[in-house]
Amino acid sequence: MSLILGLETSCDETSVAVVEDGRRVRSSVVASQADLHGRYGGVVPELAARRHLEALLPTLDRALAEAGASPSDLDALAVTTGPGLAGALVVGLAAASSLALAWGKPLVPVNHLEAHAYAAFLDSTLQPPLVVLIVSGGHTGLAELTEHVRFRPLGETRDDAAGEAFDKVARHLGLGYPGGPVIDRLAETGDAGAFPFARALLGPASLDFSFSGLKTAVLYLTRDAAQRGETLRLADVAASFQAAVVDVLVEKAFRALALTGRKSLAVTGGVAANGGLRRAIADRAGVAGVAVHVPAAKYCTDNAAMVAGLAHFLRASGSVPRGPLRVDPSLALGGGKRRRGRAKGV
Ligand code: KG4
Ligand code: ZN
Repeated sequence: MSLILGLETSCDETSVAVVEDGRRVRSSVVASQADLHGRYGGVVPELAARRHLEALLPTLDRALAEAGASPSDLDALAVTTGPGLAGALVVGLAAASSLALAWGKPLVPVNHLEAHAYAAFLDSTLQPPLVVLIVSGGHTGLAELTEHVRFRPLGETRDDAAGEAFDKVARHLGLGYPGGPVIDRLAETGDAGAFPFARALLGPASLDFSFSGLKTAVLYLTRDAAQRGETLRLADVAASFQAAVVDVLVEKAFRALALTGRKSLAVTGGVAANGGLRRAIADRAGVAGVAVHVPAAKYCTDNAAMVAGLAHFLRASGSVPRGPLRVDPSLALGGGKRRRGRAKGV
């Protein structure tokens, strides 16, 4: 049995978790900063780093207590080192390094995007190979997990991430931050066909994404209506926007399955909590004979259980990166640099 304590501070959630053998979550505590950033309409990096500093030790105490574990029970610690906000990542890495030194435990650096994929293994018996669609506020991409911890990137966003588009559209519509959950709820009562936004498929074979044009289309739609003195039904705008995002995500995910010949799909990241996306993926999977794995909503958004989970499989396959630990705000899936780092924050 391996017991790993994970720390996650890459954006605006301070999280600590204890996970057994990469799958069994003994505790997962998330201290959200959404209230702090809500009034600014997005994450303010300096405030995020300071709040992580305040929240980390109480969160750690709770995670150990809820897991019924003491530091001496741990086999290793794990921490997100990128991608994310530099100052926020530094707080997590400094804390994790100090604890690892004080407790005499190894420390495993974890890629946040790969950790999102490993949320699919929590409380699950899932096995690779599979295709993973990662849809978060900072990233949208597709990869093939050929075997444990071996990612083959297949496509990524050329501009905004899907969650970023939800957040920006929500901000424009005056719906607050984070925008995804609000739009998701509003869309339930809206007409998805009210405004036929274009679907950015980027050609018949592309596995890349682009959401900035859609975001701009929503802005123009509402601006033009306001100039004409018309008020649009917000629920219809939300439903039409969400349907356009969902259609593209589903189409690209099934293109990736066709390309790789895989029959197993994991969908993770904050936007995987979206009701419309979950329903659309399940419908299409039923027709295509694909098994879909969507983690519980609490493991889709940022959390440390996925960090501890991935660390277990990195250790088990002898793939823990060596050398001095440092944060890398623009780390890509698979270890390289991202084509486009999100300028997270306002
Ligand atoms: O994975 P995550 O917690 O943080 C990042 O790594 O970015 O994802 C946060 C993103 C935000 O953009 C938020 O608006 C979006 O996930 N999100 C949703 C939903 N819940 C969270 N988007 C659509 N529908 C939801 N229900
Ligand atoms: Zn994330």
